[in-house]
Amino acid sequence: MRRTMDCGALRAEHDGQQVTLSGWVNRRRDLGGLVFVDLRDHGGMSQVVALPERADVFAQAERLRSEYVVAVRGTVRLRPEGQRTKRLASGAVELVAEAIEVLAEADTPPFPLDGSVDAAEVNEDLRLRHRYLDLRRPAALAPLRLRHLVTKAIWDFLDREGFLHVETPLLTRSPPEGARDYVVPARERPGYVYALPQSPQLFKQMLMVAGVERYFQIARCFRDEDLRADRQPDFPQLDLEMAFVDVDDVLSLNEALMAYVVQAATGAHVATPFPRLGYRDAMDRYGSDKPDLRFGLELVDLDGLFADTGLRAFRAALDAGGAVRGLHLRAAQATNLSRRDIEGLEAHAKRYGAHGLAWLRRSDDGFTGPLAKALTEHEREALGRMASDAGDLLLLVAGPWATACTALGAVRLRLREQLQLPLDTSAPSFAWVLDFPLFEHDEAGAWTSMHHPFTSPRETDLARLEQDPASVRAKAYDLVMDGFEVAGGSIRIHRRDVQERVFAVLGMDSEEARSRFGFFLDALRFGAPPHGGIAWGLDRLVMLLAGARSLRDVIAFPKNQRGVDPLTNAPAPADPAQWAELGLALAGEGATSAAATTESTS
Ligand code: AMO
Repeated sequence: MRRTMDCGALRAEHDGQQVTLSGWVNRRRDLGGLVFVDLRDHGGMSQVVALPERADVFAQAERLRSEYVVAVRGTVRLRPEGQRTKRLASGAVELVAEAIEVLAEADTPPFPLDGSVDAAEVNEDLRLRHRYLDLRRPAALAPLRLRHLVTKAIWDFLDREGFLHVETPLLTRSPPEGARDYVVPARERPGYVYALPQSPQLFKQMLMVAGVERYFQIARCFRDEDLRADRQPDFPQLDLEMAFVDVDDVLSLNEALMAYVVQAATGAHVATPFPRLGYRDAMDRYGSDKPDLRFGLELVDLDGLFADTGLRAFRAALDAGGAVRGLHLRAAQATNLSRRDIEGLEAHAKRYGAHGLAWLRRSDDGFTGPLAKALTEHEREALGRMASDAGDLLLLVAGPWATACTALGAVRLRLREQLQLPLDTSAPSFAWVLDFPLFEHDEAGAWTSMHHPFTSPRETDLARLEQDPASVRAKAYDLVMDGFEVAGGSIRIHRRDVQERVFAVLGMDSEEARSRFGFFLDALRFGAPPHGGIAWGLDRLVMLLAGARSLRDVIAFPKNQRGVDPLTNAPAPADPAQWAELGLALAGEGATSAAATTESTS
């Protein structure tokens, strides 16, 4: 039997027509001498009914089980009045079966696929182990469709703008993007490895040297780093690069591209240009370099108010050049926070490095809270002007500037959930964060790049590169969407001497720079145009557009939080023979289980 239309396409206008559908049995119901089968395919669902008058067909229908693959030929008829449903697009009609062919039988699935159980209630690893079943749920497939639309819109827009899609290698040497490399031993050269790219950063820059001028790629990237809900070990980026541009050119192209993509994929209108915030401003006001601007509750700068304070922790922080930051909750919001909730918020702030979270609650004639008695008259008055209504609550953190801001920023986000603060979700909220420092200190106190070492310093700051690296600002930009970093990029260094100076500040002598990046420094000798670009985290964008909470929900075959793919069970124990061939010795748990496998099979 050959399918003549999709299950979801049946409509009242097909009444009386003979059609053949094929798909999976979503559910079979035996009701009052009739057998109903909900038949599902990629296009939707239709109801098939088997009548007792056709004994052979009826018997066939009674045999059907969930997830059997069947073809059904029959005649379309309008459902009796009262049995029509708006839940299905085909809900006005049903197919009266005249022949049923079972194309494949199916075991009972390990979890129901017919919508009777919410996916969130099914163990995620079980779903991922049987992802080919999980994806039969329309809700699981929807993000993949959205992803397709996003990718198509990207291609359409960039093609029109004169960009060239160029693929770059996966077996390569990786530019540093702040994670560990995944390495692949090279059999032909024992002791040598390829690295999988953390990004195509240097290839796209060399494409600019090559004169490509406008490059893009949906590029696979690999990063061995701590996993979170918004990270995967391998993930796709929309990677793009442009020659003869400065910051504004890259930003405005990306704004137009994003507005086009969101409109094409979801229909939502995104206003451009996007708001822009300086890094310091974002940290000061929202305690984050990826601020969620969909709600207020901005941090308050209390350095001046506490300038003469005698409060020990505050005094120490300010004397050490640090900061005091506060959050002001109005009485109506604060009333929902118990002492216990505040303790929970303090524990949260400590996870972000704060020593504590002080609080002051406004009473009719002053403040209550652990610090209340130690406030000076001036502090009480000034705080009272801010928190002017009885019941208002102030939450305060003192410490090094970045720690105080970050910890309170984390509390701000926790309050978003805890108080269910209303968010403007009519359209995605985008903002650029600019003016990042070029360098930051790593844990050992050495200078490291805040983005990557190929980011251009501002020309005006170049003179201070060696003397005062902390003050040098980068021509870098991050794109924030609903409080997530969805993209990051920069104008690049296109002069070899500047690149070498940046490497030197990063502690790389010329020999090390040559051995790691000689090929790239060479390229810069042959006339590199000024250039810059950006990379979008495609999974993150789709996750946010789909309203999903995890990247895993928008990836066809994702890895779980431990970096394991429950479907194929990767990573798998190493094969000793393969390793011997590579000239490598095995160690670790994988080696033990590989040895056990070899013994049991030999
Ligand atoms: P960056 O490292 O900021 O920049 O990455 C760009 C964007 O990629 C996404 N992203 C991730 N998505 C999922 N899982 C991960 N583990 C992961 N890591 C990053 C984020 C991020 O904003 N070469 C530079 C770009 C450039 O300078 O042009 C780069 O890779 O959304």
